[in-house]
Amino acid sequence: MMPVLATRIARPSSGAISEAAAVLAAGGLVAFPTETVYGLGADATNDCAVARLYAAKERPSFNPLIAHVADITVARHLARFDAEALKLADAFWPGPLTLVLPRLQTCPVGQLATAGLETIAVRVPDHPVARDILAAFGKPVVAPSANRSGRVSPTSAQHVQADLAGRIDFIVDDGASPLGVESTILSCVGRTALLRPGAIPRVAVERLLGREIGIATVADEAADGQARPIAPGMLVSHYAPRAALRMNAVTVSPGEALLAFGPTLPQDAGNALTILNLSGRGELIEAAANLFNYLRVLDGSGTGSIAVMPVPEEDLGEAINDRLRHAAAPRLNATRPQAAG
Ligand code: TXA
Ligand code: MG
Repeated sequence: MMPVLATRIARPSSGAISEAAAVLAAGGLVAFPTETVYGLGADATNDCAVARLYAAKERPSFNPLIAHVADITVARHLARFDAEALKLADAFWPGPLTLVLPRLQTCPVGQLATAGLETIAVRVPDHPVARDILAAFGKPVVAPSANRSGRVSPTSAQHVQADLAGRIDFIVDDGASPLGVESTILSCVGRTALLRPGAIPRVAVERLLGREIGIATVADEAADGQARPIAPGMLVSHYAPRAALRMNAVTVSPGEALLAFGPTLPQDAGNALTILNLSGRGELIEAAANLFNYLRVLDGSGTGSIAVMPVPEEDLGEAINDRLRHAAAPRLNATRPQAAG
């Protein structure tokens, strides 16, 4: 169960900015205005803080998050920019444009924030409060819209309070978000394509690049193999391990790796090549923070099958099981246009 927090709210001031940075550094959650909508910020390099963020929003799945940074110099420590991506960043940053780019090997953003993907969404917001917080904190901040999952995006501190009071540490209230609609998201992995329409019109991007840009598409294998626009729920591909995944495992076969949860392992756990425990104490926030790292480590251990112990379908367990189910599903490369490699 989530502890009830005393959510502080303050108008922008140098004291409020320092407090916001301190809360982020301590792994807490801070809602702040951007030019588009209010974001719910967490330290992008701290998987535990990111797990708390998903829990506060009650997201039923680990949708990857946008890393907000102070400027393009910081952004270039996270992701690889090709010439077109640089042109876009130069033209529209700071501003309501998010670029999905190949993640650098040395990128400090945690696996949970990017849902285990090889790509990362990056944006430099254009709002004085957001920029001051990013400058004071000095590290990337992931910030989805500061609403509970399934509700509308917040454009004021009151909206944030209504959804998240008691679930987050601090809100910086600077009145209404000027634009009121989220950033435009472009994929710059391969040919530039539109992933989410938003505050920057598509034509502005097309004018800059001197050509039309398409909506990101996915080949519909189930039907006729024709390319179709990616439906909102399919916007993002899922991290898929090479090894097969066996969910709700209560036994372990020789040669399998075991992804455990909780204090009590299966009786034949000794069969496992390797064992990693998502949370020995059976805590879902800790389990979420470890999920993508541990999947990668076990996948890299050379096993053909990962046995996953049951994870309760409550709180963050819903999102953990959602991702595990996707990882366990049969894969069709053509349905994972954003996937690595
Ligand atoms: O205006 C905005 O962008 C606001 C403010 C707070 O900055 N943020 C925002 O975040 O709208 P969120 O989490 O509500 O939406 C981010 C979208 C999600 O649909 C997610 O799937 C997509 O970005 N996304 C993030 N990383 C991605 C990736 N690596 N590949 C494809 N899509 C990605
Ligand atoms: Mg949102």
